[in-house]
Amino acid sequence: MSRHSAFMRLDFALSFVDEGDFAAAIEAAEAAIEVLPQEAQFHFVLGEIFEKTGQVDKAIASFRRALELQDEDTLGAGVRLAVLGDASPLSRLPRSYVEALFDDYAPRFEKTLVQHLSYCAPEKVFDLLFSHASRLPKNPAVLDLGCGTGLAGEYMRALAGRLEGIDLSKKMLKQAAKKRIYDELTQGDIEAEVSEDAPRFDVVIACDVLNYLGDLSLLCQRVATRLRPGGFFAFCVESMDRGHGQVSFELHEGQRFMHERTSIRAWLLAAGFEVMEERFTPIRTEKGYPVEGHLVFARLRKFEVTKKNNPDQDTAQTAVTLKH
Ligand SMILES: C[S@@+](CC[C@H](N)C(=O)[O-])C[C@H]1O[C@@H](n2cnc3c(N)ncnc32)[C@H](O)[C@@H]1O
Repeated sequence: MSRHSAFMRLDFALSFVDEGDFAAAIEAAEAAIEVLPQEAQFHFVLGEIFEKTGQVDKAIASFRRALELQDEDTLGAGVRLAVLGDASPLSRLPRSYVEALFDDYAPRFEKTLVQHLSYCAPEKVFDLLFSHASRLPKNPAVLDLGCGTGLAGEYMRALAGRLEGIDLSKKMLKQAAKKRIYDELTQGDIEAEVSEDAPRFDVVIACDVLNYLGDLSLLCQRVATRLRPGGFFAFCVESMDRGHGQVSFELHEGQRFMHERTSIRAWLLAAGFEVMEERFTPIRTEKGYPVEGHLVFARLRKFEVTKKNNPDQDTAQTAVTLKH
């Protein structure tokens, strides 16, 4: 049997899933695997079908196989294993998975999110920022983390003197570039690449991107290095609760992280921020239900570097003090 017929079997399997005939779907996916046993995607799809039918052990075995067969886990098999509790908890989603997910999603991202999932995080983060407009410098330099196709950039353009965006997905960036609203777009990871330069931004925004990271401590530190003293960080995350502090973040079924309020405040504080305002409001729907967003507007405290003479040692000492 040919490679082509194996992929046809997989298509049949997916059609059976749509029709709700899971037994036929499993049979078709297993037949595809018989022909091409090294095809990671086939094992992944079979895992998803097993998971849908509640056969968790078989789902885990299939996801493990899919993971073994890939050099880089672009399918997200490791993410499914973490959701099913078969892998150690993730502190962020793998870069290769997020990149592949959004490269695939890019052409239909805006239609799906805005029209079908009532996505409104960019508007709400902008409203929060705009309500503090009197605090912002004129023509602020703005960095849009995980800018995607530029939905948040469209709001920010009117306010920003300079607007830059960074994103992992080349294809999302390509959509953003078509809008001609960014002065510069960079492909990169917001945790890894945000700290390379000197501080030159007045505002950093992040709409619906920090939920692809779990632990935000490093990210908060990186953002602090890019902001001028007194600069602002406006972002949203998916809210886990209103702050009881048991767990800082949790990966949910939708394969994104939810974050807990007191941890966010602690990460920000440790990085030198003070929280100026928080809002709790729906930012999208998922399976018909509203997803509660946690919007945060924070300011990087100003550091004052002063030279003090030390009379005992007759040397100049540098003291760094926080300015409020
Ligand atoms: C749900 S979209 C949101 C896009 C945009 N901020 C908006 O509100 O329309 C998430 C975006 O974050 C990007 N992303 C996720 N994790 C990232 C990371 N670690 N570094 C850079 N970009 C990331 C994805 O590629 C995707 O374009």
